[in-house]
This record gives sequence, structure tokens and C-alpha cells, in this order.
Amino acid sequence: MISGKARIAGVMGWPVSHSLSPALHNHWLTQLHIDGAYIPLSVAPEELENAFRLLPKFGFVGWNLTVPHKEAALKLVDEVDSAAKAIGAVNTVVVKDGKLIGKNTDAGGFISNLKQKIGDLTPYKKTALMLGAGGAARAVAYALKEEGFETILIANRTHARAQSLAKEFGAPMRALPWEEIPGMLPQVTLLVNTTTLGMEGQPPLALSLDNINPAALVTDIVYRPLETPLLIEARKRGCVTATGLGMLVFQAVNGFAAWFGKLPDIEDAEEYIVSQRA
Ligand code: ATR
Repeated sequence: MISGKARIAGVMGWPVSHSLSPALHNHWLTQLHIDGAYIPLSVAPEELENAFRLLPKFGFVGWNLTVPHKEAALKLVDEVDSAAKAIGAVNTVVVKDGKLIGKNTDAGGFISNLKQKIGDLTPYKKTALMLGAGGAARAVAYALKEEGFETILIANRTHARAQSLAKEFGAPMRALPWEEIPGMLPQVTLLVNTTTLGMEGQPPLALSLDNINPAALVTDIVYRPLETPLLIEARKRGCVTATGLGMLVFQAVNGFAAWFGKLPDIEDAEEYIVSQRA
């Protein structure tokens, strides 16, 4: 499938071997019979600037960024979209007329995943509670604010970090002390975990859902395991839940369309990723 005219994109990370993006993008390239490739690029932080300068000269049409490059990438592109600017991180670069356009598709990916799985989010837009205030939380916070959630509470182990995130994004965001979570759960209409807790190899998320509003939607950006203990517990209490793997799929769609000129089929994408991981 790959000719001398193939369009080449990839993902820069350090390390990059954990990334599921090459499998996903190459699956779509094959499905759509596109002459192109998407490769893992193992780029050390001190080489990031060089990589940004050189890859367009070698004909790359763009690339994704994963840990730890998303924040540094912001300063290495010629233009940024409004999401990347507000979130302070770039996860997608598109080379256009020799210029590097930086985008953040994580926020859009988060919301598109919920909409695909749940449909209309209106019933859940009253009170969102986000757990965590790190890099992933910034994308989720931006997404919830853009979607018009009425109140967005941020609870984090290190409260000062939640406070500074709430202050930076402004109303309707507010920091909630971690110990006040149980008292708030009856009112919460969307609960989202943006921390790494509950991920394979990480500590569990020690949070009792005894008080959770059974009409709440609960989601987790952790997708390894796909069904996290948080989602399992929430469902036992009657909540609607949405797994997080779709965020990875939907954040990838925009870049793919910009680089390769066609919209990929998202229908079997999650299933494909899971099968590759097994
Ligand atoms: P990411 O970019 O993946 O969000 P991060 O910026 O390191 O990574 O943020 C990780 C988040 O998980 C933070 O909210 C962190 O809380 P702190 O700000 O207090 O560090 C949270 N987190 C990680 N380990 C945790 C733990 N054992 N208990 C509670 N929160 C934890």
C-alpha cells in the first residue's frame, strides 16, 4: 500500500512504545485504501524542537504528541487553535503550506465519546464533578465549559492545584475540597475521573459512591481496564456509565482527516484497539 508518494504522519512520545495510535491510524489507512503510513516516533524532549523543524522538510503531513511533549509543543508551532491555547497543550500538528498548525483534539474527543455513547447530554449538564487537576483534567475542564455545564467542580488530592485550575478557567468552575466529595455526590449529574487512579498498575480510586445520584452519568478517562472499578460501582448504583477508550478514538479522527483527507469509520475502532491489545 505504501508507494513513494505516501503521506506520512506519526506520534511523538518518550517513550512511545505504549501508544495505541499507530495501530488505530494504520487500521483506518488500510480500511480506506489510503497510500499513507502512521509511525511511532521516539523523540527525546531535547530533540523535540529538531523533530518539529526537520519532519516537514522530509514531507511529513503532521503528527500527534503524547507524554511528555504536549505542553512543549505549544511553543514550537506557528499557529494554535483556541482549544490548544486554553488547555495549554497541543496533541495534533498539521503541516499546512509549510506552517505548523497546533491543535488540541483531546477536549473534542472527550465530548464526542460521551455523545456517541449517551446521546443528548442535556440531562447531565447541571453539576459536573471532575476528579483530578492534571494535564488530562485541563482538556476535560475546557470541554465541559464549552458544552455549557452549569456548575463544574474540581476536586483534587492537592487542593491548591484544583483551586488554581478553577481560577484560571473561571466561572462556572469551582474547586471542591476532596473530603467534601461524599456530601456533594447526591447533586452530581456528571462524575468524571481524570486521574490515573484505577488504571492497571496504579493505586485504586478510593472513593465511596454510596451517596451518588443514581441519575448521574459517570465516565472515566482511564481505559485500561476498559471497565474501571469506578464505572462498575457506579452502574451497581443505577448510574449510566461511559468508558474512556472512545476519547482516544475521537481525538484521532480530526488529525486523520486533516492529514489523509478522509473521515475514518469509528464504528469498529474501539473493538479493533481492544483486539490488538489482547
Ligand atoms: P495527567 O497529565 O495524566 O493528568 P498529571 O498531570 O500528573 O497527569 O496528573 C495526575 C492527576 O492524578 C493529578 O490530579 C494527581 O493529583 P495531584 O495533583 O494531587 O498529584 C492525581 N493523582 C495521581 N496519583 C494520585 C493518588 N495516589 N491519589 C490521588 N490523586 C492522584
